[in-house]
Amino acid sequence: MSDYQNLTFENQDGIGIVTINRPKALNALNADTMGELDTLMDALAKDASVKAVIITGAGDKAFVAGADIAYMQPMTAVEGRAWAKYGQAVFNKIENLPQPVIAAVNGFALGGGCELAMACDIRIAADKAKFGQPESSLGIPPGFGGTQRLARLVGKGRAKELLFTADMIDAAEAYRIGLVNKIVAPEELMDAAQAMARKILSRSPLGVQVCKAAVNEGLDTDLETGVAYEAEVFGLCFATADQKEGMAAFLEKRKANFTGK
Ligand code: CAA
Repeated sequence: MSDYQNLTFENQDGIGIVTINRPKALNALNADTMGELDTLMDALAKDASVKAVIITGAGDKAFVAGADIAYMQPMTAVEGRAWAKYGQAVFNKIENLPQPVIAAVNGFALGGGCELAMACDIRIAADKAKFGQPESSLGIPPGFGGTQRLARLVGKGRAKELLFTADMIDAAEAYRIGLVNKIVAPEELMDAAQAMARKILSRSPLGVQVCKAAVNEGLDTDLETGVAYEAEVFGLCFATADQKEGMAAFLEKRKANFTGK
C-alpha cells in the first residue's frame, strides 16, 4: 500500500491513517487522488489488519479544499456527470467500509472536502477547521453526495442555507449544528482521533460493524424497513462468539475479550 503519489497510508497498530497529500493545492481532489483513494478503499475493505480508519489532510491549512477546480473547469456535461458518479462511488465505499472511519478535520473542509468528511462515520475537528459547500458560487451543486449527506446530518433547512449562501462556517458552528462530533486544539487532533478509534476498538468489532450497517441501511429507507433490518442483525449476532463473550463478561463482572468472531 505504499505506491501512492497523492495520499499516504500508514497502519499504526491496527489504525489505518489515510492522509490526502497535495498540500500545495490544499489537498484538492483531482482524478489521480480520487483514483488512489478508490484503490485504497478497496484494499482496506479486505484488510483484516486494519480495524479502524482515520482520514486527514496533509499540512496545517486544509483537510481538503474541494474537488480540483482546475481539473473540472473544462469538463463537458457528460464528463461532469461521470466525475460526480465516480466521486459518489468512491465516497460510498468509504461510507460502507466495514471498519469505523473517523475524519480528523485539520483545516478547510470545503466542497468535496466537506463531502469526504461527511462520508466518514464520525468527524473530529481542529478548532481552526472551516466547513462549507461553496459550489453554488462556482455555478454547480455539490457532486460527491453533499446535497444528500448534509441534509441528513444537519437537517433540510440548515443544509439549504449552507448550500444556497456558500457560506463558510467555523468548527464551533459546525459542532452546534451537528456537522462535527467533537472539537479539539489542532495539536491534539490526531491523538483525539486515535483515542476515539481505540475506544471503539475496545468494543465488540462485530457489534460496531452491525451498528454501522444498520444506521447506514436505515437512513436510506423507511423506519419500518430500517427496524426490520435491525431485528435481523440483532438476531444474527446471537450466532457470534462476541455476543456470548460480551454478555458472559458482564454477568461475570469482568472485561470482555472480543475476538470479532
Ligand atoms: N481546486 C484546485 N485548486 C485549489 C482548490 C481547489 N478546490 N482550493 C485551493 N486550491 C489551490 C489554489 O488555487 C492555490 O493554488 P496556487 O498557489 O497555484 O494559486 C492554492 O491551492 C492555495 O489556495 P489559495 O491561494 O486560494 O489559499 P487561500 O488561503 O487564499 O484560500 C481557500 C483558501 C478559501 C480554501 C481557497 O483556496 C478556496 O476558496 N478554495 C476553493 C474552495 C472551493 O470552492 N471548493 C469547492 C470545489 S467544487 C467541488 O468540490 C465540487 C464537488 O462537490 C465535487
